[in-house]
Amino acid sequence: MAVESTAPGAELEILYDAEAIARRVRELAAQISQEYQGRPVRLVGILKGAWVFMADLVRQLDLEVTVDFLSFASYGDAAQPSGIVKITKDLDQSIAGQDVLVVEDILDTGQTFEYLRGVLEAHKPRSLKAVTLLDKPSRRVRPVQADYVGFTIPDIFVVGYGLDYAQKYRNLPDIRVLRAKM
Ligand code: IMP
Ligand code: MG
Repeated sequence: MAVESTAPGAELEILYDAEAIARRVRELAAQISQEYQGRPVRLVGILKGAWVFMADLVRQLDLEVTVDFLSFASYGDAAQPSGIVKITKDLDQSIAGQDVLVVEDILDTGQTFEYLRGVLEAHKPRSLKAVTLLDKPSRRVRPVQADYVGFTIPDIFVVGYGLDYAQKYRNLPDIRVLRAKM
């Protein structure tokens, strides 16, 4: 595969391969399907990072599901996020009175999710839960957590399976650690 064509000076090491991810997604879907049994669920995917994960997850859910997406821009850079966010794609349908499950790629400092949870709660859903593929609890600066977590990881930067570095690597089928080459 052409995945070794990284930026010069960077290397990519597999952390979870496609098979391990698929297994974990099936487990999460089984847990979610059981807990929401008999209730329609509105999945709200956070673009762009959650798109690949959501596509796999949704096909494993044994539930009546509808989907929507939210996208926003944050000002500041990855190392020093400002916490100021602008919605660039709002919900298409009302979530008032709905059981909403937010689908996230990764929970890092928690600033994004804290903001977004406030935005969604203002729309008065019946319930609001979150599933994140990855969680970096050691980086948290805001008191938020997801109800369902795929993998808990240390303070490393990962790409692939929807996650990017400078918009690249989202198409990798596995999750890889991005490191500067020594
Ligand atoms: P938070 O607001 O710090 O929790 O940041 C969450 C967002 O930062 C995620 O939705 C990702 O877009 C991005 N992010 C955080 N850590 C990583 C990573 O290791 N790889 C790729 N993107 C990341
Ligand atoms: Mg991102």
